[in-house]
Amino acid sequence: MAAGSRSGGDRPYHIIVFGASGFTGRFVVEEVARAASEGPGGSLRWAVAGRNRHRLERVLQQAAVDLSKPELKSVEIIVADVAHPESLEIMCKQGAIVLNCVGPYRFYGEPVVKACIENGAHYIDICGEPQFLEGMQLKFHSKAEAEGVFVIGSCGFDSIPADMGIFYTKSQFKGTLTAVESFLTVNTGPEGGCIHDATWQSAIFGFADSTSLRSLRKKFGHKPLPVVGAAIKKRGSFFYSKEIRQYSIPFMGSDPSVVKRTQRYLHQEHQQSPVQYTAYVGIGGAFSVVKTLFAGLMFWFMTKFSIGRSLLVQFPEVFSFGVFSKAGPSKKQMEGTSFCLSFFGEGYSDGRDPSHGKPDAAITTQIKGPEPGYIATPITMVQAAITLLNEPQSLPKTGGVYTPGSAFAGTTLIDRLNKHGVQFCLINAQKT
Ligand SMILES: NC(=O)c1ccc[n+]([C@@H]2O[C@H](COP(=O)([O-])OP(=O)(O)OC[C@H]3O[C@@H](n4cnc5c(N)ncnc54)[C@H](OP(=O)(O)O)[C@@H]3O)[C@@H](O)[C@H]2O)c1
Repeated sequence: MAAGSRSGGDRPYHIIVFGASGFTGRFVVEEVARAASEGPGGSLRWAVAGRNRHRLERVLQQAAVDLSKPELKSVEIIVADVAHPESLEIMCKQGAIVLNCVGPYRFYGEPVVKACIENGAHYIDICGEPQFLEGMQLKFHSKAEAEGVFVIGSCGFDSIPADMGIFYTKSQFKGTLTAVESFLTVNTGPEGGCIHDATWQSAIFGFADSTSLRSLRKKFGHKPLPVVGAAIKKRGSFFYSKEIRQYSIPFMGSDPSVVKRTQRYLHQEHQQSPVQYTAYVGIGGAFSVVKTLFAGLMFWFMTKFSIGRSLLVQFPEVFSFGVFSKAGPSKKQMEGTSFCLSFFGEGYSDGRDPSHGKPDAAITTQIKGPEPGYIATPITMVQAAITLLNEPQSLPKTGGVYTPGSAFAGTTLIDRLNKHGVQFCLINAQKT
């Protein structure tokens, strides 16, 4: 496994997993261990990092047992705390890439991004918080560019499948793809499933602070992206989707924000025509609609007050109807869970001018994968890191703060994901 020729290839470690003792960090450690065993023996040099050595030792011991790899007990440990910038500096100087699993990112992320840029380490995270992701772009893009450092946020389930999925759909479409709707369905097994509460906290504080996202966006001073072709369909806040045969609601995560930033980048830097995008999630039958509306209204109301926010933080299971929990999903629950992200695109077939008439071609693609939060996310994060290390010539020409789609459009990331259980496929493409 060759390290990239960009900054950091000659450092002690190719990859440092920061926040390795967290719920997600532990699975990222296991995924890095698997990736290391795929390359020629011992060629991927990696370490774990976090604020508590004892907890990190336990993570390595557990991974050694779970993966039957006793050698994992001797993986190097770096002690670093977000509250101590000098410890971040020491950590970042040792790695080509830092995989940052310490969240919520709005509270802990910025010092890590800054330390990476200042110390020449590329940065990858699994953030799903648009305020943080867009804020880092505004604040650090020029600095990262000047230092030749890649800062690539949202490399987890939020938002590699959506962002690379649009890219894939575009690559399979013969003509000009102008609009895509995606529908996410998550299937759980008999044991059910849930999401660990750090993500719940990210949602609470992100929702409470949504006005600052609007003012942040104004600071970019962007002109609206041109609408190419017919405008994308407008749907209500819930509706029955014929496509996935379930009631659906708009997807509240970071996917639309990330995809839009990618489309803007491809339009501005590569003169590609932007794809309009909306994201939905299937919620099931009529009873789920009532439950979701009730939970959504209560969530919206409670995030407005500090006492409401603190109740939400303390009792995730109660207020999310079991979708989020302090304990996170069990191994059995994770093994029984899978996702399917379907993309329904339309556009203008080869030779037709998208500025005239209605779309005449449609396409459906799908991404299928294992449990999104703690199986698929480590896969997408680690494969993003391996791509960054191995394909420096296929990345954008300069460093900077990038979305996955803008950083990896020229790479083989999709092939790598296909080989690791996150599968992209074309369902059909036809004239309409
Ligand atoms: N994109 C996706 O689909 C996706 C999927 C999963 C998770 N995530 C995101 O990933 C983040 C982590 O989630 P999680 O469930 O793994 O959370 P978690 O279990 O609470 O883990 C947080 C980690 O941060 C560490 N940490 C906290 N404060 C620190 C500090 N001052 N210095 C250094 N390390 C510190 C913790 O260390 P200790 O162990 O020492 O406390 C722990 O390792 C969240 O933002 C979550 O939303 C995203």
